[in-house]
Amino acid sequence: MQKDLLKLLDLTREDITKILNVADQMKYNQKHGLIHNYLQGKTLAMIFEKNSTRTRVSFEVGMYQLGGHALFLSGKESQIGRGEPIEDTARVLARYCDGIMIRTYRQEEVEELAKYASIPVINGLTDFAHPCQVLADLMTIREHMTRLEGLKLCFIGDGNNMANSLIVGGLKCGMDVSVACPEGYEPDQQVLDFAGTVTGAKFALCRDPLEAAEHADVVITDVWASMGQEEEKERRQKAFGGLYQVNEAVMAAARPGAMVQHCLPAHRGEEITTEVFEAHAGEIFDEAENRLHAQKAVLYLLMGEQV
Ligand code: CP
Ligand code: NVA
Repeated sequence: MQKDLLKLLDLTREDITKILNVADQMKYNQKHGLIHNYLQGKTLAMIFEKNSTRTRVSFEVGMYQLGGHALFLSGKESQIGRGEPIEDTARVLARYCDGIMIRTYRQEEVEELAKYASIPVINGLTDFAHPCQVLADLMTIREHMTRLEGLKLCFIGDGNNMANSLIVGGLKCGMDVSVACPEGYEPDQQVLDFAGTVTGAKFALCRDPLEAAEHADVVITDVWASMGQEEEKERRQKAFGGLYQVNEAVMAAARPGAMVQHCLPAHRGEEITTEVFEAHAGEIFDEAENRLHAQKAVLYLLMGEQV
């Protein structure tokens, strides 16, 4: 494993499998009340420049369950908000803490933080990637479907951080991946370039959601306007509305028994109908729960002393 978890592009298939295996073990330990305080005495600094419910709570609870401690730093209230350079913040936090989790806008900021911090840095979401979420998604899919290789994952909606990380994570795990998005809302070019180099698993970029969903084993969507895109909301509603939605027709095109995943928060009636959401709520909330277990695996692998 590398020092940091910045984006799934940096991980090998073996790295991802290892994280998912440790995540399963973490879940087992927690469900069976087995002591797993592998990070006793260790501290994680959590920097948030955007809102969060799941990421904040799951990292904080995860550190506690591992015997460590997590501290919340809001971008606005810390000196970061007053312009202290990221390279100085990195070197200061490394003197107190054992790891840093950051949620921010630019991927470059996270990469910069990792470059200057001598301790592990974990990406808790940027405009480019959401690796912790996709590790939880892959864990949930494997749990429900018993495997990843050979399955077809379909993403309908904006070519955003979730789309980027799902394409990379899915393809690396041997899944076929298809994405349906409107023109002008494609996934990042770096991700499309990576998809172009993959052999074995297939990648398709479509305009028609029904074409993307055909024979899919897993159907995934996310909001049309991400954090930081609030001003584009109306324009995006026009571009996505009426078509880029996980609904009954999309589920009818997918394989019978197909799963649905949504990183949450969800906007019912926009990217997903209430009916599809509620019919798959079990899988979607398993996915939310698995953030905890997948991140505990990442924390242990990056910050723990392994024998
Ligand atoms: N899915 C996700 O990252 O949720 P939060 O924004 O609540 O952390
Ligand atoms: N694409 C969404 C994901 C939220 C977890 C956003 O960036 O706001």
